[in-house]
Amino acid sequence: MYYDVPFVPTPEVVVRRMLQLARVRPGEILYDLGSGDGRIVIMAAKEFGAVAYGVEIRKDLYEQSMAKIKDLGLADKARIINASFFDVDISDADVITMYLLTSVNERLKPKLEKELRPATRVVSHDFEVSGWRPVVVEEVYEEWRSHKIYLYKIPGKEIPVPSGKSVDVNDPKLKQILALIDGVNSLEEIAQKLGTTIRDVRNAVKKLADAGLVDEIKVVK
Ligand SMILES: C[S@@+](CC[C@H](N)C(=O)[O-])C[C@H]1O[C@@H](n2cnc3c(N)ncnc32)[C@H](O)[C@@H]1O
Repeated sequence: MYYDVPFVPTPEVVVRRMLQLARVRPGEILYDLGSGDGRIVIMAAKEFGAVAYGVEIRKDLYEQSMAKIKDLGLADKARIINASFFDVDISDADVITMYLLTSVNERLKPKLEKELRPATRVVSHDFEVSGWRPVVVEEVYEEWRSHKIYLYKIPGKEIPVPSGKSVDVNDPKLKQILALIDGVNSLEEIAQKLGTTIRDVRNAVKKLADAGLVDEIKVVK
C-alpha cells in the first residue's frame, strides 16, 4: 500500500515545544494529521488537557496508538481515526499539528484553507506550508540534529453581530461576553480580553444566539 509519508516520530522535546508554541489550552480540539505512534495526541491530551485526535492511515500504528491511549486512561480525551487525512473533516479544530513533507502540505493546503476557521493554529514540524506566512519559526536542538517548527495562524476574523434586543442574562460569564459583542470585536479578541479560549467564547455566543441576543457570527476572511 502507498502512504504519502513514512513513519518518523517527532522527538518528545520537539512535540512539547510545538504544543507550547501553539498555546494549546484545556478543552481545545487538536488534530495531528498522520499521527504515527500517537505521541503528539497523547501529550496534547495528557499535558495540555486538549481533546486530541490523530488521523493515521496505517492500521498497525492506529492499533498501537489506540492501545497506548487506553493503557494511559486517556480514552475520554484522545482518539485515533484510522483513515487518510484527506478524507477526515477537521473543521472543528483549534490546532492542527503535522510532520509530513512540503509536497504533502501543498496538497493539504486547499483543505486546510477551506475547512479551518480563522485564528486556528497550524504547527508543522520541519516542513513549510508554501505560500503561507508563519507567525513563528523556531529551531529546536535535539540530540543529533536541529528541528524547525513553523507556526501559522489561519487569517481572518469571526465577528459576532449583536441583535440589538435586550433580554435579561443571569449567567455572569455570558453577561461578560455579551458586553464585548459590538459587531467589531472578534471571537479571538473577546477571548484574549477575558483570558479564555475562542472555543469557550464561540460556545457562549451560540447560547446568546439561542436567546435571541446575537444575530450571527460573521466570517471576514
Ligand atoms: C513523519 S510521521 C509523523 C508521526 C507523528 N505525527 C509524529 O510527529 O511523531 C507521518 C505519519 O503520517 C502517516 N500518513 C502518511 N500518509 C497519510 C495519510 N494520507 N493519511 C493519514 N496518515 C498518513 C504515516 O503512516 C506516518 O505515521
